[in-house]
Amino acid sequence: MSLMEWSDELSVHIGRVDEQHKQLIGLINGLHDAMKEGKGRDVLGKTLSELVDYTATHFKTEEDLFAAHHYPDHHPHKREHDALTRQAADLKDRFMKGNLFISNETVLFLKDWLYNHILGSDKKYGPFLHAKGVA
Ligand code: FE2
Ligand code: FE2
Repeated sequence: MSLMEWSDELSVHIGRVDEQHKQLIGLINGLHDAMKEGKGRDVLGKTLSELVDYTATHFKTEEDLFAAHHYPDHHPHKREHDALTRQAADLKDRFMKGNLFISNETVLFLKDWLYNHILGSDKKYGPFLHAKGVA
């Protein structure tokens, strides 16, 4: 069984966002599998990079929607994104320098962050953007 599973509970009912969240879950599962299978640094590094890059793409999608529709919680929400972006860049940096071994804790941190952020913050913009006609 995968580390993270998609469920309707996670849906913000905006198609493009749900698809991106599913991709992120897939990338975190991929990192978890690569770690469990004892894959080499090259595979782990590539998977971690993909996750970091896709996270940036995803945050931009949400922030562009917030800007386009004047979402009132744009800035506090962006601060959460920025904090994770810094932490993820730091993880990648330490990994690339050989100062980080990707452990269960690393993957669980990313998993918990994504769950908590979707359920706590992303879910809040769903109804607002819906009312603006975003589907
Ligand atoms: Fe999100
Ligand atoms: Fe978000």
